[in-house]
Amino acid sequence: MVEQIVSSPDEIRRVRTYIEGFDEHLQGGIPHGHISLIAGSAGTMKSSVCFNILYGEAVNGRIGLYLSLEQSHQSILNHIINMGYNLNLVNIVVIKDLADFQQDVAKVKNSHDKGTIIIVDIGVIRKEVKDVKIDENRSWLNVIKNVVKTVKDTVGLDVFTLDSMSALYVLSRFKNPRIELFYIFEFLRDADVTSLLISEAPSDGSRYGEFDEDFLSDGIIHLRLAAFRRRIVREISVVKMRTTKTNNDLFSLEFEGGRFKAMYGGQNPLL
Ligand SMILES: Nc1ncnc2c1ncn2[C@@H]1O[C@H](COP(=O)(O)OP(=O)(O)O)[C@@H](O)[C@H]1O
Ligand SMILES: [Mg+2]
Repeated sequence: MVEQIVSSPDEIRRVRTYIEGFDEHLQGGIPHGHISLIAGSAGTMKSSVCFNILYGEAVNGRIGLYLSLEQSHQSILNHIINMGYNLNLVNIVVIKDLADFQQDVAKVKNSHDKGTIIIVDIGVIRKEVKDVKIDENRSWLNVIKNVVKTVKDTVGLDVFTLDSMSALYVLSRFKNPRIELFYIFEFLRDADVTSLLISEAPSDGSRYGEFDEDFLSDGIIHLRLAAFRRRIVREISVVKMRTTKTNNDLFSLEFEGGRFKAMYGGQNPLL
């Protein structure tokens, strides 16, 4: 896809984060087609924030793909049910076997009333990688690309989450990760989807990816846990977001009653 030049800021389509009090500090959301890192250390709710975006988009009739290399689909589903999302408002399609992938995805077409979240877990991809008799380094990427392409071509794809880049590096054992990474970004840009790449990153903000993700990405949203006296509070900030006027301050992040809420500056919930 060749990126179009807009004639006014209003023309830039944006994907909301559906975090109350946050989107308005991002001119409404992440520009469509951007590749963003959702970076943070373990337990900072990276996966949950990404799911929250897919859920919000699906409630608005769009199609999201959640590709998990870290958690099984059972674990993901249990987590989101426990978080209190109303799953009646969206279609959830779980892909358990890539052999039936095309048919399973095609079913999404027949449910126009609601948007859909397609969940593919690692077990499925691992099996496929074993079955495909090609160099293991390449096959992980090929399977991921095929999954994205199939969804895109069969029913259309608005938002893609890869959970996580860190797991991809561990599993795929790329011979030259910087080159592979470059091609992953190129593929996602061409695919014309909004991509959320989850990245394990230290909380000090010294880096947000393992290789060149920091500068290759269009956006970086950083999640962290911070000590406040003897309590731990969640924080979220926009490190960068191309084509967007952002407020880069640290916001406190809360999740309550099935909704994320960001609080600006001095509005610390503990004060
Ligand atoms: N119902 C809930 N309400 C609020 N927070 C929750 C709820 N369920 C789990 N959590 C928090 O979410 C965290 C895990 O979120 P997750 O998105 O998996 O983090 P990450 O992907 O960054 O490791 C848990 O450590 C827990 O603190
Ligand atoms: Mg996670």
